[in-house]
Amino acid sequence: MSDHNSRLRSQDWFGRDDKLGFLHRSWMRSEGFPGSVFSDKPVIGICNSWSELTNCNAHLRQVAEAVKRGVWSAGGFPLEFPTISLGEPFMRPSTMMFRNLMAMDVEESIRANPMDGVVLLCGCDKTTPAQLMGAASADLPSIFVTGGPMLKGIWRNKEIGSGTDVWHYWDELRAGRISQEDWCEMECAMSRSAGHCMVMGTASTMTSLTEALGMTLTGCANIPAADSRRYEIAHRSGERIVEMVREDLRPSAVLTREAMENAVRVDMAIGGSTNAIIHLQALAGRLGIDFPLERFDEISRETAVVANIQPSGKHLMEDMFYAGGIPVVMRDLLDQLHGDAITVTGHTVQQNVADAKCHNREVILPRARALQPEGGTIVLNGNLCPRGAVLKTSAASPGLLQHTGEAVVFEDHEDLMRRIDSPDLEVDATSVLVLKNGGPIGAPGMPEYGNLPIPAKLLKQGVRDMVRISDARMSGTSYGTVVLHVAPESAIGGPLALVRTGDRIRLDTQGRRLDLLISEEEFERRHSEWQPSAAHYDRGYGKLYLENVLQANEGCDFTFLKRTNGVPSKLPLAF
Ligand code: FES
Repeated sequence: MSDHNSRLRSQDWFGRDDKLGFLHRSWMRSEGFPGSVFSDKPVIGICNSWSELTNCNAHLRQVAEAVKRGVWSAGGFPLEFPTISLGEPFMRPSTMMFRNLMAMDVEESIRANPMDGVVLLCGCDKTTPAQLMGAASADLPSIFVTGGPMLKGIWRNKEIGSGTDVWHYWDELRAGRISQEDWCEMECAMSRSAGHCMVMGTASTMTSLTEALGMTLTGCANIPAADSRRYEIAHRSGERIVEMVREDLRPSAVLTREAMENAVRVDMAIGGSTNAIIHLQALAGRLGIDFPLERFDEISRETAVVANIQPSGKHLMEDMFYAGGIPVVMRDLLDQLHGDAITVTGHTVQQNVADAKCHNREVILPRARALQPEGGTIVLNGNLCPRGAVLKTSAASPGLLQHTGEAVVFEDHEDLMRRIDSPDLEVDATSVLVLKNGGPIGAPGMPEYGNLPIPAKLLKQGVRDMVRISDARMSGTSYGTVVLHVAPESAIGGPLALVRTGDRIRLDTQGRRLDLLISEEEFERRHSEWQPSAAHYDRGYGKLYLENVLQANEGCDFTFLKRTNGVPSKLPLAF
């Protein structure tokens, strides 16, 4: 064994002279690998969230092949392995409930197996944060290759965006402005290639923030899935991870407080999904970085929204790529970023993006012509959300950002679906729609139904937005004046549980407050009368989840997965 190999973790499995070494090599030989691969090559795991039940990641087997070519050509030994995958459109009650399960799977698969470095392949909403959390906790040299967004949807020569236009045209259909035939035709025209949703939804946001964190090669996040450059960057990432193993460049060196601040800054500048706040909070917890919600708001106040991408803006992710993508956003923001943060390239942010060129200033706007002068998402406090709530102002109606109205309360999602379109629902355009039991424990799994539908009778009157409040999340592709992630949630007796139809609620985004306008005595009286509902699960993963999930303001990770001692978990020796 050479000096170099004696430092490789995989040699604890393959470099042994004893019976176990024989067995480990012999079993790998059963896959047809020659003895030469065991002697001097770093073993690179390729952590693949491919699944045909995760349509956004269904092309990742091909991406893995490109990574393998890169690993081989740089002198590594690639071994692809699967983990649980999380398909946003299909999983019930929500993919969010399983994000932590996937993060544990990623972490333990890395830790348990003979690898020296890992390339992580992700795309769909929760697969990216789950892999970030798992890789951060395992802390083996890691690089991300995101799957890339789908090509634009085109319907009757008009661009249509994933999710965002679904919500828009669903309202048009309910209001009778488009036909059933139009609707069916659109279904065929929207998702026309491999890749994840191609608006600035959660997938595009989280992959962009993975690049902003310094965990991908420069320019990786926004390359469309169908573009050959997606495979080229996968190949180069395979080459790079071999170097990273030799440099011992680990997530703990990249995922610093400065990197977190860079990611939040970019999140605000691109009008990123509200879900990103939860995922970044969870990642901060894994890193042992204290990063309170208030810090998101501080950064938001000083960051202009410059990405003119749906749902905040007009264009789609394919346009974002052609315009120059995240490197341009970061170059334009350099004066507000930690430019000296180190990245997986081995270079700093400043070095990576200094020469980035913008090719379309209608897509990535100059700050002087920003979509809005302050960041896309704000954090609220007040007696209705003492531990915080969020509102994506870049996708809200300016006229509703200071608003007081009477609550129309729905006890849970079923109640909402039963009554929202009823002609008897007492509601008008000034009402505030409130949904309870949409949080991590109450729903369970905090599903993305926080953008409550506008009641059909108001849609017919031309109403397109109202103030809506819940402890649920909403899809990053959604829009509207929607207060989300109210913490603590109603299912554990948070103030949202106490709201009744007819109460007045004040939303004051300038003052960053959300208040229930009832007396303190009435507040206390209702609180003393409140009773919790029965738990959703009494066994299995559901029980583990209910007993350990943190509230939204702490990222909904499990209590026992946060780093508590300030140092990463040790990777044990093999034996
Ligand atoms: Fe996977 Fe939208 S469904 S990113």
